[in-house]
Amino acid sequence: MPLPVSPHDPYRSIAAAYDAEFDGANADTAGYASRAVAGSLLVLGCGTGRVCRGLASTRQVTGLDRSPAMIEGARRRGPDDVRWVVAAMTDFDLGPFGEIIIPNASFAFLPDRRARAACLARCLQALSGGGPVTIDLPAPDARLLAEAHTPEKIAWEGQVDGATVRRTREVFRFPLRGNLRLVDRYYIDGAPPIESVLALHLFVPDELEWMLEANGFYVEQAWGDHVGGPVREGCDRLLVRAVPVG
Ligand SMILES: C[S@@+](CC[C@H](N)C(=O)[O-])C[C@H]1O[C@@H](n2cnc3c(N)ncnc32)[C@H](O)[C@@H]1O
Repeated sequence: MPLPVSPHDPYRSIAAAYDAEFDGANADTAGYASRAVAGSLLVLGCGTGRVCRGLASTRQVTGLDRSPAMIEGARRRGPDDVRWVVAAMTDFDLGPFGEIIIPNASFAFLPDRRARAACLARCLQALSGGGPVTIDLPAPDARLLAEAHTPEKIAWEGQVDGATVRRTREVFRFPLRGNLRLVDRYYIDGAPPIESVLALHLFVPDELEWMLEANGFYVEQAWGDHVGGPVREGCDRLLVRAVPVG
């Protein structure tokens, strides 16, 4: 059965290139595996399934993403025992899970406070047994935020289905709101570029903690990288692990 297509899916035409670029970027999965809890795992914003694949041998895994193209790529690569779901992380009801992971900035794509609260309400419902949600976000870089615009420059080059693909990125920054607009252009064999526009919110640690507390969670632990380092000036990630209160 054909999957529904989201008209606002920035990954619609670039899922294969995303998969080729990020397939090996697995610095996060070892940490997730070492902190695994009992019960099934739900990965929100799973993309083409990188994290699900890395953790599939540890327990029953479900990967959810709103992009039909990303889920199609995930399904093609497998493994077959992962359940793949096309849905928004703000509106899902898939039963209880032992743990939820929202990896690699997926939560940062939620457009506003209402969407973030809706996602956390769904997580709270799914974690009825008291298990944790881990959210991995890029940390804000104050020096970069002062730069309103970075012109287009090459960000990645590689092979996708036998073709040479070059990705460039142009960045627009809105520091007061902590928002970024990333304009990625994919150049494939001299054809006009395919444009993918991503809007992201950058959280500061206090904001993240307040948000979780205001939505029924307690922050158990926070890290500034994927190997368990502390949140510190200059760290490039913000990872929080939170559990339902009560
Ligand atoms: C940067 S990619 C990360 C993909 C994957 N987690 C990884 O680590 O490679 C962000 C993903 O979040 C998904 N996403 C963004 N907003 C979403 C939403 N509201 N509901 C579900 N998925 C969403 C996108 O479709 C995309 O696949």
